[in-house]
Amino acid sequence: MTLLEVRQYSKSFVLHQTERVIPAFQDLTFGLNPGEFLLVAGPNGAGKSTLLRALYRTYRPTSGEALYSSAYGPVDLASAADIDIMRLRREEMGMVSQFLRPRPRVSALELVAEPLLEAGEEHAMERAEGFLDAFGLKRDLWAAYPTTFSGGEQQKVNLARALIRPSRLLFLDEPTASLDRQARAALLSRLAELKAGGTAFMGVFHHPEDVAELIDRTLQLAAFLPGNEETMGEGADHVA
Ligand SMILES: Nc1ncnc2c1ncn2[C@@H]1O[C@H](COP(=O)(O)OP(=O)(O)O)[C@@H](O)[C@H]1O
Ligand SMILES: [Mg+2]
Repeated sequence: MTLLEVRQYSKSFVLHQTERVIPAFQDLTFGLNPGEFLLVAGPNGAGKSTLLRALYRTYRPTSGEALYSSAYGPVDLASAADIDIMRLRREEMGMVSQFLRPRPRVSALELVAEPLLEAGEEHAMERAEGFLDAFGLKRDLWAAYPTTFSGGEQQKVNLARALIRPSRLLFLDEPTASLDRQARAALLSRLAELKAGGTAFMGVFHHPEDVAELIDRTLQLAAFLPGNEETMGEGADHVA
């Protein structure tokens, strides 16, 4: 059974200053099964981040559909109401990007424990501590506010928070960018554990060799060359 069925997905941005249309990606068709890890590859500006955001629904796509088999039944991520997307994000769909947006006066530990507390799960604090420990965040920082943390420290909090509860579908946008070796190893082992539990992934990695053992397939996005209509259509929907 397919978890996500993406058909002819496209996203363009209109630049109002110049009234030009910038296609971020065009006509992508692919599927994703539970427990599958799809690497999203392509040069800078090929639309990798935009594709993840247009599925997680930071943006709406310009056209196409993305049929997702949620625990409540099928949902088209392209057209679902915001309130339904919010529920999916709370319960079954996650996104890890490079940057944490820390909330003022919320400690690292509280941020990580929050998804468990909201779900009414037991031992939330102890488990959050376990995650911060695994990712190698210094104990002195657990009760501190991540607003002042270094990029790598924020990234650890971000990952711990995003991965502490299993999701059915996870989008990863260069999550290893500023991680040290210990955190990278902790990330890899948590991703493998989630994958074995049935989580499906779409991930962009600057160094895909970091996650080579997890990758099942690659979705290769081509760079858009302005003025070359042919290039827009082809190459962008090739699944290796
Ligand atoms: N919010 C936006 N507004 C306008 N153009 C954007 C926006 N986000 C991305 N783009 C453009 O879309 C293209 C794809 O960007 P992006 O998805 O970030 O590429 P990648 O992640 O593959 O490097 C780029 O040309 C980028 O400039
Ligand atoms: Mg990107």
